[in-house]
Amino acid sequence: MGTICVPDELSGFSGQMEGVLAALLPSQRGPEEKLYEAMSYAVLGGGKYLRPYIVETSASMFGVPAAQRRRVGAAVEMIHAYSLVHDDLPALDDDDLRRGKPSCHKAFDEATAILAGDALHSLAFETLAEPDTHPDTGVRADLAATLAAAIGPRGMVGGQMIDLESEHVAVGADVATRLARLKTGALFSFSATAGAILGQAHREAREALQTFGSELGLAFQIVDDLLDVEGDEAALGKKVHKDMTAGKATFISILGIEGARREVRRIADSALANLEMFGERGRALRAIAEYVLKRDR
Ligand code: IPE
Ligand code: IPE
Ligand code: MG
Ligand code: MG
Ligand code: MG
Repeated sequence: MGTICVPDELSGFSGQMEGVLAALLPSQRGPEEKLYEAMSYAVLGGGKYLRPYIVETSASMFGVPAAQRRRVGAAVEMIHAYSLVHDDLPALDDDDLRRGKPSCHKAFDEATAILAGDALHSLAFETLAEPDTHPDTGVRADLAATLAAAIGPRGMVGGQMIDLESEHVAVGADVATRLARLKTGALFSFSATAGAILGQAHREAREALQTFGSELGLAFQIVDDLLDVEGDEAALGKKVHKDMTAGKATFISILGIEGARREVRRIADSALANLEMFGERGRALRAIAEYVLKRDR
């Protein structure tokens, strides 16, 4: 069997995801028009769509229909886009460039960016809760509850708080690991688990995907930290060399570049171990894990 080229798969998949997202994003004339424009600006154009691709890949293992997979992928991408809009605000990371374009608050204004993030958060849950996402109300409630847990105080938002509280503070690898697991690992974990929820898979499969996603997200964040030091602004579409100036607690500040690279490989291997139970069916998820280590954007 040939190898899976994840960047090629992602570029084909991105085109499809853009169509699904564009259809789900409402538009409206009138005084609130700017809000709708800012939401579309934040979600469409330039993202890798890696989290929806993880949903797609994990759901495909359980034979979930494309329309269902894509709606959950869209909800995950709305949450991710909201998190980036707020992450870039002056009160958080104060970044002016995102996905090769001015950040949302630069293209619009801060108030609009805050509201666009809020609205994307709501639209994600509305999308999950609608009957087209899955005919079974229990599955839809499970998706909504699991996503809410992943992105709230015990997940992504909690991680963002630790990130801010750790600026200019000497923290150890334990704190950096927990920070990254929450701010990034939790949404990756949901993305991998979503396939098992949609496919009503057995508990062991769901738990394996949950751990796989969490480890994958942790590895992804360490690579993000490495790319801030070694990456290229044009390829990444965001400014580099920001973390050190901001005093961020990154794996590079704690372990150095070589140490962080070794840590990424070790974590990726621990992620991959969770896929053993899926045998050949886990091939596409394995390819994603290898891609995460080699990515340059
Ligand atoms: C950036 O995520 C934020 C992190 C969690 C490191 P991505 O690198 O997936 O950003 P996009 O969606 O491709 O722009
Ligand atoms: C962002 O982490 C994580 C979330 C948005 C939850 P970073 O602050 O490292 O992401 P970039 O580097 O700005 O993309
Ligand atoms: Mg940040
Ligand atoms: Mg940031
Ligand atoms: Mg970063």
